[in-house]
Amino acid sequence: MSVEQQAALGSGADFWSTKQVGDLPSLVLTDGPHGVRRQVGATDHLGLAGSEPATCFPPAVGLGQSWDADLTRKVGAALGVESRALGVDVLLGPGINIKRDPRCGRNFEYYSEDPHLSGRLAASWVQGLQSTGVGASLKHFAANNTEHDRMRSSSDIAPRPLREIYLRAFQYVVQQAQPWTVMCSYNRVNGTYASENRWLLTEVLRDEWCFDGVVVSDWGAVQDRVKAVAAGLDLEMPGSGGGTDRQVVDAVAAGELDAEAVARTAGRMIALAAKAQAGRATQIPAFDPDTHHALARQVAAHCVVLLKNDPVEQQAVLPLDAGHSLAVIGEFARTPRYQGGGSSHVNPTRLDIPLGEIHAMAGDGADVTYMPGFTTDGSGDAAALREEAVRAAAAAETAVLFLGLAAHQESEGFDREQIELPAEQLELLADVVRAQPRTAVVLSHGGVLRLAPVESLVPALLDGALLGQAGGGALADVLFGRVNPSARLTETVPVRIQDTPAYLDFPGEHSHVGYGEGLFVGYRWYDARAIDPTFPFGHGLSYTSFAYANLELTAETDGIAATVTVTNTGARPGREVVQFYVAKPDSSVARPPQELKGHAVVDLAPGASERVSILIDRADLAYWDIRGERWVVEGGDYEVRAAASSRDIRTSATVEVTGDAFALPLTLNSTLGEVMAAPGAAELLGTLMLMPQTAADNEALGIDMAKMMVSIPVCRLLSFAGGQVTLADLEKLLTQLNTGRS
Ligand code: BGC
Repeated sequence: MSVEQQAALGSGADFWSTKQVGDLPSLVLTDGPHGVRRQVGATDHLGLAGSEPATCFPPAVGLGQSWDADLTRKVGAALGVESRALGVDVLLGPGINIKRDPRCGRNFEYYSEDPHLSGRLAASWVQGLQSTGVGASLKHFAANNTEHDRMRSSSDIAPRPLREIYLRAFQYVVQQAQPWTVMCSYNRVNGTYASENRWLLTEVLRDEWCFDGVVVSDWGAVQDRVKAVAAGLDLEMPGSGGGTDRQVVDAVAAGELDAEAVARTAGRMIALAAKAQAGRATQIPAFDPDTHHALARQVAAHCVVLLKNDPVEQQAVLPLDAGHSLAVIGEFARTPRYQGGGSSHVNPTRLDIPLGEIHAMAGDGADVTYMPGFTTDGSGDAAALREEAVRAAAAAETAVLFLGLAAHQESEGFDREQIELPAEQLELLADVVRAQPRTAVVLSHGGVLRLAPVESLVPALLDGALLGQAGGGALADVLFGRVNPSARLTETVPVRIQDTPAYLDFPGEHSHVGYGEGLFVGYRWYDARAIDPTFPFGHGLSYTSFAYANLELTAETDGIAATVTVTNTGARPGREVVQFYVAKPDSSVARPPQELKGHAVVDLAPGASERVSILIDRADLAYWDIRGERWVVEGGDYEVRAAASSRDIRTSATVEVTGDAFALPLTLNSTLGEVMAAPGAAELLGTLMLMPQTAADNEALGIDMAKMMVSIPVCRLLSFAGGQVTLADLEKLLTQLNTGRS
């Protein structure tokens, strides 16, 4: 293949396809992630122009709340079937950026504030999708955690949080699920555009993680194609009309770009085409919109979090009693908010309307009234709308109030400035609850809302986040108890925006975002600072109850095996999401008080028990050591907590783990403390008369000399010891100690 042909392979033919070069077919890539957005007419990446009908599954904000990797695998596979039906080779998803701040406009497209959960769910999604012969595009690599200034902004992150929080889920998905492509993000990472970041795209992604697929740019993320190719970018999207192909060819001719780098990118494009050609020949089921709508409903029902369900006069408000009269209130009951705005916007095959589904489930002759209560665009007479809604609520036996954010209030492309529900909705809520104590609120939103003013008023609260096209039916299923809610929060709900970890560093300034909270993202922050949230990470109730007992841990070579007995102690069948948090209080490095390192989903009949087992991967116990630039598992005790949420620990136990052999060579710059930690060091230092010998020495001095001396670099002893010790003495000592440790 000529350099011209190789360069041509590396940029798009148009908005959604690659060029046909020689025998290689043109490939179609399109959004993603929760539905296929296949445009056959006008094209755009903002969700403006139309697209072919496709099933709109719950966006990641909803899907994540299922905590269910089997469900995400099924969704991935169904999306693959639809991609194939619409002639798509690569679906642009999943999005797995960490929800660092609730104001990020694109949080609805991401799974969680936690890398473990994001990685596990996304890996299954990718496996499901790719089982149908369609490739995934893991995005946005990396640290794209704000929409503000996203095409220039630099995410300035220290090595540990970068590795342990922001790259962790990417690493897991790349290594476990081998996505065909990874999409590099718009932003810069520590000063260098992701698309030009050789460290990110080549050293980490390929050399360390062994990624062998294609790196595609986010749409329009390439600033300088020549630099990008040198850094490891394979495909620039959309096309540049051949302009950047010429730049690549010229740069090779001028000796500014290694011809080998261009050949390598072409090789990876050829391999991608081979995967796509094989994929197109894979036998899969035909796309049936009804079956996929039913799947979307089943999935959505498992994405609804029951945040609160207190009794009113000894009787819980939920599930609803079909025989009772009901007032349904809120614009979102008849105009559902079910997906986010921007490039992921799907043209649904159908749309369930919550009000219609509630009517249908309440049955013929049921007494169900409806009032909008507010408008989402500020039009109309707010007081009049509120009053008629309050009258309806008072006249019924129960009220169900749909609140949330409208599409124009959050979207890809911009961040929110605050996390409040609109004031008129809060006023309506207060008046409705005053008139009707038996009120349940249903929430629709893409980003976290401040729920303190809601939680303090209503006895029952359901969080639907965004549920996709079948969300209306799914909400009815949960409201009436046909499905027992089991979903869990994937993000902390703070009492106030000022409590959030990145509050002072979001969205940054002058195109830089300092990640000042470091490792302490999401619940890691609230736990470390002992801040109470309104609802903690992992929280979610059920119409039944569960008990945990007999946690057993064993240290295995590949991690910690944890088993706990979970019993359904209530009267209904239910699903429990069993969470395992790990703590290492005596760690030698700063660590969050606890971190999610495993979870399992278990379905139990009333009274039934099950031993739930998971393996906490040894790799997940490691921290990133900045001195060795490697992962290190510390030896010693680890506490494992089996929990129903990050703040509802049911039982815990401790297990001893053998640490990694990791010793940095001792040098003249090592401190006395570091030297003293080596076996035999005390005696050797003692012979040099460098440390106080006995407790009596200390007593005589009236201070603990050893404590004072631990941070002195060994080389400084040359002057402190007044000539008693020579450089040769010290070098001999270090050699002896280093030999003893190796
Ligand atoms: C988004 C990507 C999307 C692409 C193509 C970009 O604006 O950031 O997530 O896949 O457009 O629509």
